[in-house]
Amino acid sequence: MCGIFGCVGSSDCVGEVFNGLSFLEYRGYDSSGIAALSSDSIHLVKKKGRVAALRSALFSSSLSGSPSIGHTRWATHGAPDDSNAHPFLSDDSSFALVHNGVIENYLELKKFLSSYGFSFSSETDSEVIVNLIQYFYNGDTLLALSETVKRLKGSFALAVISSYDKDKIFFAKKDNPLVLGLNNGVGYVCSDYPGLSSRVDKCVALDDGTLGFISPYDIALFDFSLSPLQPVFTHVIKDDNLSIGHYEHFMRKEIDEIPEAVSRALNSYYMSFPASVFDGINRIVFIGCGTALHAGLVAKRLLRELSPSLDCYAESSGEFVFSDFPVNGTLFVPVSQSGETADTLSAVKKIKSSGGKILAVCNVPSSSIVRESDNVILTSAGTEIAVASTKAYNCQLAVLTAFCLDAAKYFSSDENIPFIDSALCELLAIPSKLKVVISCENLVSLLAEKYSSAQSVFYLGRGLDFCVACEGSLKLKEISYVHSEAYPAGELKHGTLALIENGVLVIAVITQRLLLDKMITCLAEVKSRGAKIIAVSPFSDDKLSALSDHIVAIPAVCDILTPIVSVVPTQLFAYFSALYRGCDIDKPRNLAKSVTVE
Ligand code: AGP
Ligand code: GLU
Repeated sequence: MCGIFGCVGSSDCVGEVFNGLSFLEYRGYDSSGIAALSSDSIHLVKKKGRVAALRSALFSSSLSGSPSIGHTRWATHGAPDDSNAHPFLSDDSSFALVHNGVIENYLELKKFLSSYGFSFSSETDSEVIVNLIQYFYNGDTLLALSETVKRLKGSFALAVISSYDKDKIFFAKKDNPLVLGLNNGVGYVCSDYPGLSSRVDKCVALDDGTLGFISPYDIALFDFSLSPLQPVFTHVIKDDNLSIGHYEHFMRKEIDEIPEAVSRALNSYYMSFPASVFDGINRIVFIGCGTALHAGLVAKRLLRELSPSLDCYAESSGEFVFSDFPVNGTLFVPVSQSGETADTLSAVKKIKSSGGKILAVCNVPSSSIVRESDNVILTSAGTEIAVASTKAYNCQLAVLTAFCLDAAKYFSSDENIPFIDSALCELLAIPSKLKVVISCENLVSLLAEKYSSAQSVFYLGRGLDFCVACEGSLKLKEISYVHSEAYPAGELKHGTLALIENGVLVIAVITQRLLLDKMITCLAEVKSRGAKIIAVSPFSDDKLSALSDHIVAIPAVCDILTPIVSVVPTQLFAYFSALYRGCDIDKPRNLAKSVTVE
């Protein structure tokens, strides 16, 4: 996590860094700070809290100078306070550093440096890095950086300025993202590619094990042993839709963007899907974290239904790295909005090193996961800014459904083809159903207000609906801080039913005709214990109406497409619950958009 932004060569580097950090704030928002070189010395300003809190501190300090580097933090080591905020100065104030990642051997390094008289002002793992650079400095900052990174265990993206080097920002990268760009005599360093898209036309996404420096007109790139490397520039795809417009929150704006985003995602899938990925495959493993894992769960279930001859799994990336899947005959499908999630990236690297075949489903071109993967489906949802993923998830579901239908065509017998073709036609028309389902917002808003003091909410579903229940429950926890659990409806009576008492809210997702009766039995069980029930369903059914306190009606689509549609009321419910509870919707506590630490 954390956002790094650096600028060299501009007449207002500090202003540029401040604006860069304001954009990158979705990567972390515990504290922020900027360091700038001016008249041969480095000055810095840092502050606990949001980037906005830095504005007045910057104003009163009149910080200025080129180069400048800044950081917006998601704390891993040390409380989110002023003293642990980045940047850090070296003991002699000659160097300043910002760091994204975790240094696993920082305690050993701290002990080592302390024995040479270095003192430390923070509890972070990051501060040792800048002091190591000072320790190794002998007239050549690049050499000192190279000696330093060779001694670090863990993950890092670093930006460093030095009072000995007027026009340079030094950088190094291992396992955390860093991107560089040049524009008319100004050089930029940034944590991610969307953060640079308004400033440059081309950028260099750094590979692991590289370091160097950027000056106003030039990038010098080396491996950790200082052998020179050639920077590779790629075109930046501009996203003109980055402002919040008339919305109060990005999350609400992004829910409204779902229909258009899904239509772009399907276009992008059919323009570029490499059908040859199925050759020689008998097993498919979806991998992801959080919402992306939930998309993988849906895809696993779809494939089990559509192509029973295939062996299918969906694994949490953090668990996958400790498991052993056979590589031969397996297609690994990492799913990620950001393309930078450390757990998923580690899984991809593990698969790659064992020669496995990868098809990544990702929203950010040029992200680390895209660059590490042989084949890619871009979800083309557009930049997603709210920490809670909505439109990117619906796009993941849309392209994964298209993928499962293609797999079914490839692996199934001919008699299935008419069913697959008709599902495909319905899939292409799904954006219009999504427009309809978003119009449930008034009802969902009223329900969220009515239940805004709920202490605990249970989401129930069976089959594909259980996957949607998992996503709805995660969304509610994430942004409204309400305790919530998702259960396969039949599982409830094996223990969790004990928690259902008068007034407890149950949200039931019921979209599969064949499972309707079983779901109704389960609703009767919770109703008789006093639960309040909101059903999300396309069915008008007397028993369902009698048991439910409220029904959010959704448009009917064929069974396998329901997750793309039925998740929308749950996204809206989480949004309005957070709104009525006064939560910080786009930047929920303790979280960040891009989780670049394992
Ligand atoms: C989604 O609302 C969450 N913020 C989170 O679960 C997220 O989906 C997860 O961290 C994975 O991120 P990724 O898609 O960028 O890999
Ligand atoms: N480990 C560092 C810290 O806790 C950096 C965390 C980050 O990547 O934001 O400050």
